[in-house]
Formats: sequence, structure tokens, C-alpha cells
Amino acid sequence: DWTMAGYREQAVEQIREQIGDKRVICALSGGVDSSVAAVLIHEAVGDQLTCVFVDHGLLRKDEAEEVVAMFRDNLNLQVIHADETELFLGELDGQSDPETKRKIIGRLFIDVFQKYANEIEGAEFLAQGTLYPDVIESVSFSGGPSVTIKSHHNVGGLPEKMGLKLVEPLRELFKDEVRALGHELGLPAHFIARHPFPGPGLAIRCPGEITREKLDILREADAVYIDQIRKHGLYDEIWQAFCAILPVRTVGVMGDGRTYDFACALRAVTSVDGMTADYYPFTHEFLGETATRIINEVSGINRVTYDITSKPPGTIEWE
Ligand code: XMP
Repeated sequence: DWTMAGYREQAVEQIREQIGDKRVICALSGGVDSSVAAVLIHEAVGDQLTCVFVDHGLLRKDEAEEVVAMFRDNLNLQVIHADETELFLGELDGQSDPETKRKIIGRLFIDVFQKYANEIEGAEFLAQGTLYPDVIESVSFSGGPSVTIKSHHNVGGLPEKMGLKLVEPLRELFKDEVRALGHELGLPAHFIARHPFPGPGLAIRCPGEITREKLDILREADAVYIDQIRKHGLYDEIWQAFCAILPVRTVGVMGDGRTYDFACALRAVTSVDGMTADYYPFTHEFLGETATRIINEVSGINRVTYDITSKPPGTIEWE
């Protein structure tokens, strides 16, 4: 009988055989796929694995610290926290076009990963959390070797450029199986059930120019919104939920005074695969309470809107 415990044992054996006594590197994003791949490989070859966590300064509130603490302190993996916030935000300065933002972030991500990877002596393998659907898709669309299609946390083309061999222990699994394997390997349930988060991060939730001020406000508003969703027990019913900060200030009143602050939009959708999506039908009570909390708790926001666009014609992200 096929069991996840059996799969785990067999995968560990195969990884040991493939890697021998060589070193492996991996780009850890904090997403489920790269996390499960890293923990599985660590179980197989221990400290022969080094993970590089590229922090582009576009992560959610406390996210970088939480991911690094979990993998380094709780799971005992070797993790390099590559804090390159200055580099990314510097290059993004003045840019407002969505695809330009993506290109800049994708290019820098590869540069940074390569820079840190080059410092790891004797690395011969690169681990990737490629799943079965990625394998089929890349084969049927290009006929070429398997490279993941998702934009930037995969390092397509890099293995050849750096002379590295690929280790892809999740190649036979679907997403729900990867989650089950993560559970089997002892990753916390709340971590495995996290909503997807795009590689370019908050850059594409900050339409228009990205500033540190807007990013800080967005992080706070998003944290309050997700806290509300968790408190109301709705997190697992939703495919993805997040805040976007709008590139506009609007007038409001607070106490005796006039305010002139940013507006934000709440987004929450249900979906099976992210290709199509419906907006989530929150109650008016939930929406009202959330708006009140955000305006009271987040300085810099004085207006909250709810995005009721489905996909199509909208996309899930705002950019
Ligand atoms: P859209 O906005 O296209 O999003 O409806 C569909 C899914 O893809 C994610 N997404 C991205 N993921 N890099 C990523 O890694 C990107 O540039 C990107 N753009 C969108 C989005 O969060 C949703 O899950």
C-alpha cells in the first residue's frame, strides 16, 4: 500500500543516493513547495544542505524573521538570511509599471541568489520544489527540460549557468500531496495551510510607485486584515486574502480634525487553482468591523474599500 510515510522513506533514500557526500543549495522562499523540499533534503543529507532566503524587503509583517526562525531555530536547517532590502528598493525607486517591477525583482533575485550561492564552497546540486503539474506543463508547452513556470522564486536557467545539477524531490507530487508530506515531516499545520504569496511580494500590491512609507502602511493594514480573517475562522475557506494600498490620498475626519491619508483595498477570493476566482462574500458586519479596525489601528489609512471583482475579468493581484 502507498503511504506518505513510505514515500518519505523512499525519497530520503533516493536523495542520499543522488547527492552522496556533495553539497546542495536551495532558494528558500517560505512557500510550501520550497519549504517541504528543503526539509525533506535536510532529513536526507543534513548540513550538506544550505538554504538561501532572499529577503527583498517586500515581505509581509514579521515574515522574514518568522521564516528564518522556524527553519533555523526549530528545524535546524542552515539558512542564510540574505537581507537585500536596500538593493531591491533602490532599484525599484521611481518605477510604477507592473511588468517592469517584476523584471527588476526577478533579475535581482537571481543575481543575489547567485552571489550567496557562490560563497558556499563546493556546492554541486541545486534543490527546487518543482511539482508534478509544473513538470507536465513545461513538457507539454515547450518540450524542453523541466523548469518551473512560476515567475521568480524558481531559478530557471541558473543550474546550467552555475554548473549545478538539479534535485527535485517533489516532481511526482501534486500540491495536496506536498502538503501531506509537509505534515508528515513535522511542518506546523498553519504554515502548510498558508495562502499563496507571489514572488514579487508587496511590490504588486502597491500600485504605482513603491515607497518605504507605503510599504510600512500596507504591512500594518494587511496584518490587521489577516488577523480579522483568522479570528472569524475564515482563513481556510479563502484561497488568498490581502490588502493593496492605493496610490491616492483621500480626505477624512477623525475626532475634531481633517485627515488626508491613503486608501486601501481589501481582496479575498475563493479559487481552485488561481486561474479563475470569485470574490469572497464577507458579511457587512465583518467588513465594517475590519474597516474600523484598520482605520483605528493603522496610521496612514483613512479609507477602506472591498474589491468585489471576480477573475476574469479582474486578476487576483492588483498588478
Ligand atoms: P493573478 O493576479 O494573475 O494571480 O490572478 C494568480 C496567482 O498567481 C500569483 N501571482 C504571482 N506569483 N509571481 C508569482 O510568483 C508573480 O509575478 C505573480 N503574479 C501573480 C497570485 O498571487 C495568484 O496566486
